Amino acid sequence: MKMLEALAPGDRDRELALTLDPARIPAHIAIIMDGNGRWAKRRGLPRVAGHKFGVATVRSVVEDCANLGVKALTLYAFSAENWKRPRAEVDMLWRLLRFYLRHELQDLQRNNIRLQSSGHVEALPERAYEELRAVERATARNQGMRLNLAINYSARIDIVDAVNAVLDEARISGRLADLVVDEKTIARRLSTADLPEPDLLIRTSGEMRVSNFLLWEIAYAELYVTNTLWPDFNRTELLRAILDFQKRERRFGGLSDAPRNEAPLAPEPMTDIDGEELEIAGIGVSS
Ligand code: FPP
Repeated sequence: MKMLEALAPGDRDRELALTLDPARIPAHIAIIMDGNGRWAKRRGLPRVAGHKFGVATVRSVVEDCANLGVKALTLYAFSAENWKRPRAEVDMLWRLLRFYLRHELQDLQRNNIRLQSSGHVEALPERAYEELRAVERATARNQGMRLNLAINYSARIDIVDAVNAVLDEARISGRLADLVVDEKTIARRLSTADLPEPDLLIRTSGEMRVSNFLLWEIAYAELYVTNTLWPDFNRTELLRAILDFQKRERRFGGLSDAPRNEAPLAPEPMTDIDGEELEIAGIGVSS
């Protein structure tokens, strides 16, 4: 684990990192970065100061995830609903995004991180859009961690877009009348189609909501909610979240010892089952 190389013996994060099972680092971590406004308010600062400090947290979490061997990190940077915020705050968020992109490009390249995005980014102010696309292009060949920024993102819209893409393709190829849709048909057209499904969804600042984030993709994600506000979400907090994740028993709707990809068994036909047998069959059925 690359993170260990950078931490001195005795460092409390090193001790925490040593308790992690390197074979069970979540492949994809998704984060709802919440609490910037409250963080600022508690310090008597304007809300935008919280976002500014939030960018510093973004920078450290990205580097820490890459050093832990996380394959993909999706950050909820701006929801499709966030346009309802005061104009000055929205404008500051775009300025911060541009600041981040400009200052981070070198570090992204050094860490072999590929930056991509989910959401209707074409609706961003032109300069923010152009700079985002430029960093996406510049890092497109990087083979390390994928950093996916969800910007002007709505999970419902992403699903609707996927369905419309399926319909359009069927219309163009003249196969609309025979169209049959299954889960893979939709999943392949989501903006996250090239990423593994999130294993761990972290939300800071204590709110117990998923706020229209990756609704399809988090079907089997482990949820971790911390009261820590985003600007305070440091490396120790990240390591604690992953440690908590590693203590969970992931069953994907099956039984604890069933491998994830085992093909589900077809249900037994309901013939010749009397009351007694049903009772026996009921024992051990997973919920
Ligand atoms: C939620 O806190 C945070 C946001 C809506 C924006 C998150 C943006 C950043 C961390 C900075 C820019 C991001 C990148 C990737 C450069 P809130 O304002 O809703 O906090 P509150 O609930 O306490 O009011």
